[in-house]
Amino acid sequence: MRLISFLVYIPLQIAFIPLAIVGVVLVAYRQMIVSKKMGISQTAIEVINGRWTMHVFGLRNDVATANLAAKLPNTSIFGLWLVIFPLWVKYKISGELFLYPRIPDSGAENLSDLFITRTLYFDRIIESAIGTIDQFVLMGAGYDTRAYRGVNPHQMTFFELDQPDVQAHKLEALANANISCDHVHFISVDFTRDNVFEKLAEAGYDPAKKTLFLWEGVTLYLSEAEVRKTMRSVSSHACKNSILLADIYANRMLNIAKSAVGKQVMDYTSEGLGFGLDLNTSWKDVLSGFVESESLSLGEAIFMGSDSDSGPFMVVVEMRC
Ligand SMILES: C[S@@+](CC[C@H](N)C(=O)[O-])C[C@H]1O[C@@H](n2cnc3c(N)ncnc32)[C@H](O)[C@@H]1O
Repeated sequence: MRLISFLVYIPLQIAFIPLAIVGVVLVAYRQMIVSKKMGISQTAIEVINGRWTMHVFGLRNDVATANLAAKLPNTSIFGLWLVIFPLWVKYKISGELFLYPRIPDSGAENLSDLFITRTLYFDRIIESAIGTIDQFVLMGAGYDTRAYRGVNPHQMTFFELDQPDVQAHKLEALANANISCDHVHFISVDFTRDNVFEKLAEAGYDPAKKTLFLWEGVTLYLSEAEVRKTMRSVSSHACKNSILLADIYANRMLNIAKSAVGKQVMDYTSEGLGFGLDLNTSWKDVLSGFVESESLSLGEAIFMGSDSDSGPFMVVVEMRC
C-alpha cells in the first residue's frame, strides 16, 4: 500500500500546489489579520489548527475541537483542508504518517512537530494524573477543549483562565458550536498583573483539593519574573501533590522565533516572546535547578528535540507541590 499511496500522493500533491498556497494564505489571513481586527491572540489559533489536524487524521479523537474550529472566524477549516488534503489521502491509503502530521520518537522531534507531539505529551501526563485530581485549572486556556471531551471520571471542577477578549471570543464560539460549558468556571486574568489565586478563590477554587494546573504554550509569552511569580503562587497556595504542568522553551528556539519573520508575526498582534532556559547542555540539571528554585519538585520531563547537537528546543515538564 505504501507504493500505491506514493503513486496517488505525488501527482495529487503537485496538482494541489496552487490550492495549498491559497489554503496557506487563507489560514494566515484569518489567523493574523482577523485575529488582529478582533484584538485577540493569534497564538492560540496555531494550537487549535494542530489539534484539528490530529483529529481529522484520527490521531486524537477531539470532536469538540472540530466543532469549535468550524465556528472560529479567525481560522479556516477550508484553508486547512486545501493544505493537508494530499497528505490525508496518502495516510488513508497507506495507514502511515508522512511529513505532517507525524509522531517521531522522543528526542527526534523538530519544530514542525511542536503542536502535535506537545499535545500528545501533555495528554499522556494528564491522563496518568486525572484519576487523582479534584480540580483542573487551565491557565492560558486559549481554544483548548480538554474540558469538553467528556473525560471527567470523578466530576472534577474545571477552571479556565485567559485574557478577557480571548475568553469572550471562546465563549461565543462554544455557544455557536453548541458545546455546553456550564461545568467550567471562566476567569479573566492577565498573568503579568493579576493575583491568580485571588481570582481563583473568588470563582470557587478550593485550596484543600488536589489540583492540576495546566499551563500549556504560555510561559514563552511571559517574562522570567512573571513565570516565577506564577510558579511561586502555585507552590505556596496549592495543596500538597498538586501538579503544575507546563512547557518551557530553549533560548535557542526563542531566538529563532524572535528573528526576522517570527518577530514580525508576533509583533503584528502585539504578542512578544519572553522567558526561556539555556538548554544547550546539561538540560536536566538546568531544568531541575529552575523548578526547585521555586520550591517545586521535578516530576516527568520530556525534552523535545534532544537528539539535536544543540540540545532540546523545549521541555514538557511536570512540577509537583
Ligand atoms: C499558544 S496559546 C495556548 C492556548 C492553550 N493553552 C492551548 O494549548 O490550546 C497561549 C494562550 O496564553 C494566553 N496568554 C498569553 N499571555 C497571557 C497573559 N499575560 N495572561 C493571560 N493569558 C495569556 C493567550 O491569550 C493564549 O490563549
